[in-house]
Amino acid sequence: MPEVIGVIPRPHVCEPLDEAPFQVTSSTAIVVRPTPEEIALAVVAADLLSSGAGSPVEIRYVDDGTAGVIALRLSPDGSPADDERYMLTVTATRIVIDAPRRTGLVHGLATLRQLLRPVGAGADRRLVAPAVHIEDEPRYRWRGLSVDVARHFFGLAELKVLVTLLTRYKLNVLHLHLTDDQGWRLQVPSRPLLTELSGASAVGGDPGGFLRTAEYVELVAYAAARGVTVVPEIDIPGHVNAALHAYGELSPSGQPTDVYTGIDVGFSRLSADLPATEAFLRDVFTDVAALTPGAYVHIGGDEVTQMSAEEYARLVGIAADSVHAAGRRVVGWQEIASVPLSPGSVVQVWDHRLDPTDVIAAVRAGARVLLSPGPHAYLDMKYDASTALGLEWAGHIELRDAYEWEPSTFLTGVPAGAIEGVEAAVWTETIRSLDELTTMLLPRLAALAEVAWSAPEDRDWADFRARVAQHGAVWDRAGFAWYASPQVDWVPSLA
Ligand code: ACM
Repeated sequence: MPEVIGVIPRPHVCEPLDEAPFQVTSSTAIVVRPTPEEIALAVVAADLLSSGAGSPVEIRYVDDGTAGVIALRLSPDGSPADDERYMLTVTATRIVIDAPRRTGLVHGLATLRQLLRPVGAGADRRLVAPAVHIEDEPRYRWRGLSVDVARHFFGLAELKVLVTLLTRYKLNVLHLHLTDDQGWRLQVPSRPLLTELSGASAVGGDPGGFLRTAEYVELVAYAAARGVTVVPEIDIPGHVNAALHAYGELSPSGQPTDVYTGIDVGFSRLSADLPATEAFLRDVFTDVAALTPGAYVHIGGDEVTQMSAEEYARLVGIAADSVHAAGRRVVGWQEIASVPLSPGSVVQVWDHRLDPTDVIAAVRAGARVLLSPGPHAYLDMKYDASTALGLEWAGHIELRDAYEWEPSTFLTGVPAGAIEGVEAAVWTETIRSLDELTTMLLPRLAALAEVAWSAPEDRDWADFRARVAQHGAVWDRAGFAWYASPQVDWVPSLA
């Protein structure tokens, strides 16, 4: 009986082959053709294998049919640029990953990484992959994680680690909530005081910090090389105390507001009638779009309680207009559905307590929907009442709650074809370190990744539960802190 292959997200076709596993040895080589795209991927693959195998893995540019090779093949067949398909075949003698686009090869490598397991001990320790044939492609184009770096700051090194976690599960969007009442985390060239005066604060008086422009650009490039797009969020017209602290002209009094280190929401706002407001919005969104090669900029829009609908629409309109003028598409939290949106804008649904009427109308007018429903996708919710970290306003989210929900029927009145994707979110009012962050993400992020990637007919809780049981040992080896949900019989790590 072939062993259970615990790939997450579950591939569409995954057929164990009745032969011996492939073994990575000191003579294993990666083979690609000498094109810039394939060479770049071969380097990523070599890095992956070398760290697991403990010795450098050679890259070759001619496939002479010898055994012991891992062949990466880009086979363009006229498919669209967003095609993410790949095929992966592991036999006793070779591994072949075939895809029409670079992204597919990246996904194939992510799958291979999960298949490779260390066996043996000491000098005999080596990596093996079970013989299998996989054909795979994602259900949704947008598979994301939103991280709040404003309540507590996470810097370049930590965000790179998060990118590597996303790629393990074929998540392809890192959404950064860069600004909020407590701090401003991205250096904006035209508005330097934002980070000079509001970069150092955080919830509870904890240390803040911010990404220098060059660090942000580096993060975006690091993510892109791994198939992940960064979507920056500048949250307006509420959640803006950090901006009002840096630029007093944005407040009706003309005076800077005080630093805020609490966790209340809804008290800060921009004012459409102040002369400084429009220039501020245009400067910030123009700069952020210029720093961001991805197609989307997120304008926030959530939890604005002290403003007329008319003023809200004016402020959101200026932000959206600035994003469009820079050639990017708008994403916003679900409240922006009350404002006329350009077709192709993305409405991110999060609050199950809100009336979905505006979202349904926005979809009819051409908007797309990104699903981050609080009771399933908000990974800062406690697992249960005993979880030390996190909040509870959307309930407790155990692993099964993160897994067992269906995006296409989630919002009555929104057709399945309008769903752009699924995004997990983690807010950091209570979360202060990378270990705390990954403890809230793992194992639930793996569940959300499968919701976003795998076809409904390929998803099954009992099957997921058995597969995820093998991933705890992988997280241990990678140094990720995680939560041992009692819903899973975790397979212990090798000593
Ligand atoms: C949100 O959780 N306020 C989008």
